[in-house]
Amino acid sequence: MASQSTFDVLIIGSGAAGLSLALRLPPSAKIAIIAKSRLQDGSTNYAQGGISAVIDPSDSQKSHIEDTLAAGAGLCDAEVVSYAVEHAKEQIDWLIQMGMPFTHEIPPSNASGYHLTREGGHSHRRVIHAADATGKALSKTLVDALKQHPNIEWFENHIAIDLVTGNKLGYKLQRCYGAYVLNKSTGHVEVMRARFVVLATGGASKVYLYTSNPDVSTGDGIAMAWRAGCRVANMEFIQFHPTCLYHPQAKSFLISEAVRGEGGKLLLPDGSSFMDKIDPRAELAPRDVVARAIDHQMKRRGLDCVYLDISFKSPDFIKSHFPNIYERCLKFGFDMTKQPLPVVPAAHYTCGGVMTDIHGKTDIPGLYAIGETAFTGLHGANRMASNSLMECLVFAASAAEDISHQLDKPFAVVDIPPWDESRVTDSDEEIVVAHNWDELRHFMWDYVGIVRTNKRLERALRRVDMLGREIDEYYSNFRVKNDLLELRNLVAVARLIIESAIARKESRGLHYTLDYPHPDNNQPPHNTILYSPSYLAPEQIECEDEPATA
Ligand code: FAD
Ligand code: SIN
Repeated sequence: MASQSTFDVLIIGSGAAGLSLALRLPPSAKIAIIAKSRLQDGSTNYAQGGISAVIDPSDSQKSHIEDTLAAGAGLCDAEVVSYAVEHAKEQIDWLIQMGMPFTHEIPPSNASGYHLTREGGHSHRRVIHAADATGKALSKTLVDALKQHPNIEWFENHIAIDLVTGNKLGYKLQRCYGAYVLNKSTGHVEVMRARFVVLATGGASKVYLYTSNPDVSTGDGIAMAWRAGCRVANMEFIQFHPTCLYHPQAKSFLISEAVRGEGGKLLLPDGSSFMDKIDPRAELAPRDVVARAIDHQMKRRGLDCVYLDISFKSPDFIKSHFPNIYERCLKFGFDMTKQPLPVVPAAHYTCGGVMTDIHGKTDIPGLYAIGETAFTGLHGANRMASNSLMECLVFAASAAEDISHQLDKPFAVVDIPPWDESRVTDSDEEIVVAHNWDELRHFMWDYVGIVRTNKRLERALRRVDMLGREIDEYYSNFRVKNDLLELRNLVAVARLIIESAIARKESRGLHYTLDYPHPDNNQPPHNTILYSPSYLAPEQIECEDEPATA
């Protein structure tokens, strides 16, 4: 039998969600965290604006809940929203205890002493942040804490390929027992067994040509959960961030919404504003509204970009509030203290994902999903700014609590067959993978972007099905590598996005189609739930105990 490492908890992903879950589990638990590249290479590290929580005494949880529900355009799960908002502040306290360097305000304007910024959809200042690089500080705080925990092992350059479930092993019991993982340094596929497996793999925005996300955001967790038998919900709601720097070398570098929160104005090339004519909240309307307005202006006027101006504030103000954005833009030749920045929207956040309950539990016993990979019901049809890191932290804590309660239960060790490579060879056609990556991201941008139509979606569906067949064949014949695995997942997730977008016969939140330009008020707002072909309903799952055959 090939050697198989065994853990109490296997966490796939090392962003805010995965790391905070690991840190919240008891020190007696043997934990493994795997990351596709370095531990800090996820969206978390890129986060700018901050983390939303009710901190200022003049703010209220009621108001945070109402704002979140309003941004979500009728589709948020009210109970989940209340749960998240009520537990947000304790996450901030936990981070502060670990040394998270949130920015102080001097002199303080609220009792906390921390500077709170504002972002779209929020009716109060409630975004706590570490200057304009909150994610970097968060990632560092969590990684530093991890190093103090000898019970947690981490494996960088390891990419999970697929989950191992009872179904796949031929047991009647549908439980998750671990994962096949490619060690990218050795090229070998390893078996990692665990009593509990947690998907914390982030979002899927790399499915689009232009995205604010890092390279790891290829929707792997959503694709793996789908193949394993989970339901996936609301994948049509892809959030496009309104303001990414327009520059060929900038790789859609984000210009934080906090720039608009601190007064930044969106302008046309002639210097005139347009947001105030579209929404009373102007630049601070929710992101779907702002991104669509920019897209409309660009298409109508044939523009390459619009402009974001905060140069009317003092250079000191700009440099102290946005030191990283200022420096980065300067490198690209734009001095934001003197001139407006050219900006365009780019794919930013996956509101849908693997369906979970409030503890991160998925449809498969033993399998959890947290963070951007999960669909908890918090965001509805449009995520409000800075509610994502908050969601990562809150649901990592609730999943950790749920898992901790079960760690004392006896658990049989299951033998997992080693990865079978007997029928595959090394590929001599890697150009196929590179070409298909490009093709997929192009047509998703062109046909499944900010403004959709039935015709474009049908065209995208035909293209993705063709690509899917090609990739499946390639996957069966050739030895697995990172790019192939990611492409396979991107194709699977693209299909889920397209199918969900076709199913929604209305415009709501982030899903806008010219064929149905208004919300359908003839029926109650509904989620788009897709059932994996391997899905087993609770009554079909024999029992949640260990298999007799172990
Ligand atoms: P990530 O941080 O993306 O981590 C994913 C992890 O999964 C990585 O470690 C990756 O290597 C690993 N992984 C993926 N697939 C596999 C696999 N197959 N095998 C092994 N490992 C895998 N939200 C806010 O609330 N406030 C903000 O200010 C904010 N700013 C943002 C700015 C930018 C530029 C971006 C891109 C996002 C921003 N967001 C913000 C959104 C927020 O950062 C993300 O939603 C959040 O960080 C996601 O955290 P996560 O832990 O779910 O995933
Ligand atoms: C930003 O700083 O604009 C990003 C905030 C977010 O995505 O929540």
